[in-house]
Amino acid sequence: MSFQIAIDGPAGAGKSTIARRVSEALGFIYVDTGAMYRAMGLYFLDLGIDTEDENAVNASLPGARLSLQIIEGSQHVFLNGKDVTGRIRSEEAGMMASKTSRYAANREKMVAMQQEIARSQNVVMDGRDIGTVVLPDAPLKIYLTASVQVRALRRYRELLQKGQTPVLEEIEKDIAARDDQDMHRKNSPLRKAEDAVLVDSSDMTIEEVADTITDLARARIAEKGSC
Ligand code: DC
Repeated sequence: MSFQIAIDGPAGAGKSTIARRVSEALGFIYVDTGAMYRAMGLYFLDLGIDTEDENAVNASLPGARLSLQIIEGSQHVFLNGKDVTGRIRSEEAGMMASKTSRYAANREKMVAMQQEIARSQNVVMDGRDIGTVVLPDAPLKIYLTASVQVRALRRYRELLQKGQTPVLEEIEKDIAARDDQDMHRKNSPLRKAEDAVLVDSSDMTIEEVADTITDLARARIAEKGSC
């Protein structure tokens, strides 16, 4: 029997950092579903597909062969045999992911893959629709959020550290716009599953959030009596 932990929440809430830490603490596999939508975004980009043209997006879907591999403990994404793990982190790939993840056929393809991965292994999976659509029966669901201001400030500091010259107000605006897009799209909008535990990380450190979720997971695993 496998055990699944679903972590959903808005952009910049710290999902991937937390999910990685929790998966390491429990010895589970971490699945970053945003990376899959980003790889698909690259695929459409490389083909020069107009993201407003749903028919063109749908027609090109069968040509995309996506696979995930764990290499030296971290997730790598392969698109038609090529490792695109580095390329998917660009702003462009993120934007393409955001624009094309709203299409049902694209989502169906990703959801089927994600469910297959979680069927036979213990996973921590993060995204926007994991608790609501991908793993509705997951024994532990977390909705991880933080205020727009705190998320913007974290991103601002990250970019400063990378030697960039970010403008806090612009980042705040971008985050609010992305929230709006993710929460109000027709297909699988971001929302808290009714049975998800709400964790607001605005005033918490990464360690505190990771420990809170790991403790919750251990308690649920003990309740279930197996894993
Ligand atoms: O988490 P991220 O920023 O890497 O995700 C990139 C985009 O993919 C994001 O704008 C929303 C979309 N996404 C989604 O629709 N469903 C998921 N389960 C994960 C990501």
